[in-house]
Amino acid sequence: MRAWKLDDFGFDNLHLYDDVPVPVPGPGEILVKVAAAALNYRDKALVEGIYAPEKMPKGLIPVADFAGSVAALGEGVTKFAVGDRVTSHFYLDWIDGPWRESYTDRQTGGPLDGGLAEYAVLTEAAAMSTPAHLSDEGAATLPIAALTPWFAMREYGDIGIGDTVLVQGTGGVSVFATQIATALGARVIGTSSSDDKLKRIRELGATDTINYRTTPDWAAAALELTGGEGVDMVIDVVGGTGLTDSVRAVKGSGMVAVVGFLDGQTSPLDLMSVIWRQARVQGIAVGHVRAFERLLRFVGEHRIRPVVDSVFDLEDAREAYERLNQGPFGKVVIKIA
Ligand SMILES: NC(=O)c1ccc[n+]([C@@H]2O[C@H](COP(=O)([O-])OP(=O)(O)OC[C@H]3O[C@@H](n4cnc5c(N)ncnc54)[C@H](OP(=O)(O)O)[C@@H]3O)[C@@H](O)[C@H]2O)c1
Repeated sequence: MRAWKLDDFGFDNLHLYDDVPVPVPGPGEILVKVAAAALNYRDKALVEGIYAPEKMPKGLIPVADFAGSVAALGEGVTKFAVGDRVTSHFYLDWIDGPWRESYTDRQTGGPLDGGLAEYAVLTEAAAMSTPAHLSDEGAATLPIAALTPWFAMREYGDIGIGDTVLVQGTGGVSVFATQIATALGARVIGTSSSDDKLKRIRELGATDTINYRTTPDWAAAALELTGGEGVDMVIDVVGGTGLTDSVRAVKGSGMVAVVGFLDGQTSPLDLMSVIWRQARVQGIAVGHVRAFERLLRFVGEHRIRPVVDSVFDLEDAREAYERLNQGPFGKVVIKIA
């Protein structure tokens, strides 16, 4: 089969091969004929060697998220039949309950092989039935970018009608956060460096927007938009020095969902801001299978359509990573079959 492999860290070491053996599903596993894969920031960070590099094997098939159809069944598989449409889940072993360190040993797209190939293996427990209204290209965008804000808003939080969510930027996670929060009936304040993207995020449901380039104190602007009270939740994809601004933007007992590290993996957090507000600073690591099932039902009921920024062919995967670098609106997809 054709597959990209990361022979060592760095984009120069990412190579497309056409003679990689098709993997064989073991007991409880399925072989997936991959139709589409979608990029997340972590897939780029992994190639660059800044995402858990100590855990990544040489020759890894990268990219965590993919969708396609079942091509073969391992021994004992009962959940699926050949031909069923399936979407991957990131953590093969995190089915429910609290996160455990051991779950990071079996993640799709590193340390386990991922979806940048014509075939991939999943456990039946971590393969999800693809919602009927979605194409494989749409479904491939969901596993990390949609589950993460869902996990923050509905599994740790209780966001619904009357609540306000602030969403940072217009990348994969943030566009899904906007769509999900809007479907939940919440008010969304969107932020972006681009007025054009702010216009597009309003079309997806954000009622208020802030350009964080022209309004660097976006937290003060968010307070103003909420009558000085603050928002119920910030989906923080930026991290770094700005984390204190997220805390400043939430109301008393509000939640900062610590999702991303676009501005750095460490933060000088102002603890007094956390203490006075009694803010909840909640780390989020994608989510478990049960939450993904609930999200997929919600996506089906609300007919949520993923926003695909661009689609690349398998041989053009490098260009897809480059597009991710440029700041897409929504998701970058690689079409495989
Ligand atoms: N913890 C988890 O489970 C989890 C899951 C998914 C992603 N993440 C992390 O979340 C982050 C975002 O992931 P993604 O896949 O959505 O990335 P992405 O699609 O590459 O999104 C990048 C966008 O973020 C915005 N941005 C960049 N710097 C910003 C800043 N200083 N302030 C506000 N917005 C800024 C920009 O939006 P504009 O162009 O509109 O300004 C940019 O286009 C990454 O760090 C990723 O690793 C974590």
